[in-house]
Amino acid sequence: MRVAIFGTGYVGLVTGTCLAEVGHDVVCVDIDQAKVDGLNRGIVPIYEPGLEPMVKANHAASRLAFTTDAAAAIAHGQVVFIAVGTPPDEDGSADLQYVLAVARTIGRHLQRPTVVVNKSTVPVGTADRVRAAIAGELAARGAEIDFDVVSNPEFLKEGAAIKDFMSPDRIIIGADDDHAIDVMRRIYAPFQRTHERVMVMDVRSAELTKYAANAMLATRVSFMNEMANLAEALGADIEQVRRGIGADPRIGYHFLYPGAGYGGSCFPKDVQALMRTASEHKLSMRVVEAAETANQLQKLRLSQKVVARYGEDLAGRTFALWGLAFKPNTDDMREAPSLAAIAELTRRGARVRAHDPVAMPRARQILAANTAVEFCDDMYQVLGGADGLLVATEWKVFRAPDFQRVHSLLKTPLVIDGRNLYQPADMRSQGFDYEGIGRA
Ligand SMILES: NC(=O)c1ccc[n+]([C@@H]2O[C@H](COP(=O)([O-])OP(=O)(O)OC[C@H]3O[C@@H](n4cnc5c(N)ncnc54)[C@H](O)[C@@H]3O)[C@@H](O)[C@H]2O)c1
Repeated sequence: MRVAIFGTGYVGLVTGTCLAEVGHDVVCVDIDQAKVDGLNRGIVPIYEPGLEPMVKANHAASRLAFTTDAAAAIAHGQVVFIAVGTPPDEDGSADLQYVLAVARTIGRHLQRPTVVVNKSTVPVGTADRVRAAIAGELAARGAEIDFDVVSNPEFLKEGAAIKDFMSPDRIIIGADDDHAIDVMRRIYAPFQRTHERVMVMDVRSAELTKYAANAMLATRVSFMNEMANLAEALGADIEQVRRGIGADPRIGYHFLYPGAGYGGSCFPKDVQALMRTASEHKLSMRVVEAAETANQLQKLRLSQKVVARYGEDLAGRTFALWGLAFKPNTDDMREAPSLAAIAELTRRGARVRAHDPVAMPRARQILAANTAVEFCDDMYQVLGGADGLLVATEWKVFRAPDFQRVHSLLKTPLVIDGRNLYQPADMRSQGFDYEGIGRA
């Protein structure tokens, strides 16, 4: 099928590339000229395992094109996806300006019946607003063209986005028109050869499903983080507790890891937006609110542990930091717990020397104004003379470092492990002063 996709970020680029990979004819549109020019030269603007070769191959095979020409893309697409950002507004609600701008653009250029698919994460009722925005532009042109608006929220995980898109757990289609449902089934048929993954539901339920999923996952993380903090206070070991509860199939082992708080472009903003939606309906989401508050506090755990060792004033101290990205296998720094740790440590007068396998270019931009932060290309280079090592992201390369070398480089052999990568007993036997999250 001929597909147009608005927004060439983490979701739009992966969606476009994977749809091209299975044979669809895809045009990706973005307003960022530099990004589009780069993509046309084979430069992929984000780090996502497996993405770059797939972009290059499909671009070379002429199934994947990049443009800033919205009219041409709309003329191309039998189906037009909206995959632009929905960042938090000042009051925490999802800012729909980009989604609605695309809707108006579609209305201005639509020439024939089209299915418009909203893939951005948007509050319940947005499909109606997208429909109204397109209809308004058509009316202004005096044009009468049939179109459908479908909700198709995305569940890919950064760092495993290609795999998630190619083998989805489920494909949620929120639609009330048989033709639109049929078109969506044809688009996604290549991704469900082993079994049916499409779930068709009404538009509002589809929109809410995305928020419900992220709020549930955020709650699980915050629950484990609070349990870990309690375990620490009680002298219990959260790792053993985790295994003990994960064995219950009603709980399961997935997504049960305590750490330095959740970050990223989705959980924090989607949790906020959900609370905002609830309050607009005079309801409060007390569980979700608590998950969010607990997360804000958890992001301070690493720096609190440092303060517990060295006191409130950290002037003259230097800390090594392994990991900047909000999770491994991505360069996404949005809401990363590392940023909270850096802000706290440097506010108290410390210097931070940081290393991340892929997120340093992005981190350099974000932290340009903070002169107390230095970046090193080598993970061992950050350690020299430091008053301790903090681990903020569980990159594989940090899992089994040369501990002797780490020990000999640090001025003080303190390791504060925000991702529980190491075994406390092993670390202590090697002479480290070791602290994880919730470890006995
Ligand atoms: N990142 C994720 O892991 C993820 C997962 C599931 C859902 N989502 C949701 O998907 C949506 C997109 O997220 P993202 O992380 O890909 O965003 P992003 O910020 O990486 O990319 C958004 C892109 O849209 C472009 N854009 C803005 N206005 C445009 C316009 N009028 N026309 C064309 N392009 C335009 C921007 O230039 C940018 O390249 C959000 O609603 C997000 O919540 C994200």
